[in-house]
Amino acid sequence: MTDRNKHLLRLADWSEERILETVDIAIRLKKEVHNGQYSDRLHGQNIGMFFEKPSLRTITTFQVGMNQLGGSAVLLSPDSIGLGKRESIHDVACCLSRWVNALVVRCFKQELVEKLAEYGSIPVINALTDDYHPCQAFAFAQTIKEQIGDYAGKTIAFIGDGNNVANSFLVLCAKLGMNFTLACPEGYEQPNSVIREMEPLFKKRGTQYRVFHDPKEAVKDADILYSDVWVSMGQEGEKATKQSHFLPFQINDDLLKLAPAHCKVSHCLPAHRGEEITDSVMDNPKVNLAFEEAENRLHAHKAVLWQLL
Ligand code: CP
Ligand code: NVA
Repeated sequence: MTDRNKHLLRLADWSEERILETVDIAIRLKKEVHNGQYSDRLHGQNIGMFFEKPSLRTITTFQVGMNQLGGSAVLLSPDSIGLGKRESIHDVACCLSRWVNALVVRCFKQELVEKLAEYGSIPVINALTDDYHPCQAFAFAQTIKEQIGDYAGKTIAFIGDGNNVANSFLVLCAKLGMNFTLACPEGYEQPNSVIREMEPLFKKRGTQYRVFHDPKEAVKDADILYSDVWVSMGQEGEKATKQSHFLPFQINDDLLKLAPAHCKVSHCLPAHRGEEITDSVMDNPKVNLAFEEAENRLHAHKAVLWQLL
């Protein structure tokens, strides 16, 4: 049986206290780096990074993050390893557990990160699956704390697909006492299992989970609008269909005008400018927090490693 606290497989596995503590560590580590101070807490430690899907931010920030903490990272090649083809998942997990101190994994199926955690003896960090993106949620939580101050009662309006990023953000909101609103075309809502698991937490905190199929309705009481690509990695075959369904779900100046005046915008990136978000919003530093959040990926990942290693 997997000890789910030993890993970051899903944000739902971590307590509110541990999430808040991780964000605090990230904020402290960021301040230290800005002052030219580096901890060597992970001196002599190494992580493996196994990425079945492309990445700019996640690969770079885990590697730089390990370097900043005095350790190092090795990028593993999925083609070379041939997971499940050249060698079983079990045997790969057992070997990697003898060489590296943690494994950062980006893959299609959530089941793969779960299996690597079950078979190996080292912490496994979910760096995005089709279902979840907990690392992004940590960077977002840090950004909210730094830029807005507190979580309680804030409303996040996620304008986009109800998949990985949205799922982890729903969990984040449930855990930290925020309202979560999804605006998506019909048929792109979040899985019932994800909603059901968090429902008791929303109830307990007196916060709300809502779904709208009209983005104009969704932004009215939002503190932050959030955006993600319409076509996720691995869905390239659905591009034309998704682009037509999501056309009204663009964050642009007209939509932003319908939100409260203090409302900010963020995006997990990469952004497909002109699709889910316009240049005018992306290039407006008064509202756009996406690059701050991208910076925070670095410190959030260090904080996650700090907690697990
Ligand atoms: N947001 C995010 O995970 O970026 P990458 O895909 O570039 O890692
Ligand atoms: N939903 C996007 C997130 C990218 C960070 C994808 O899965 O491609």
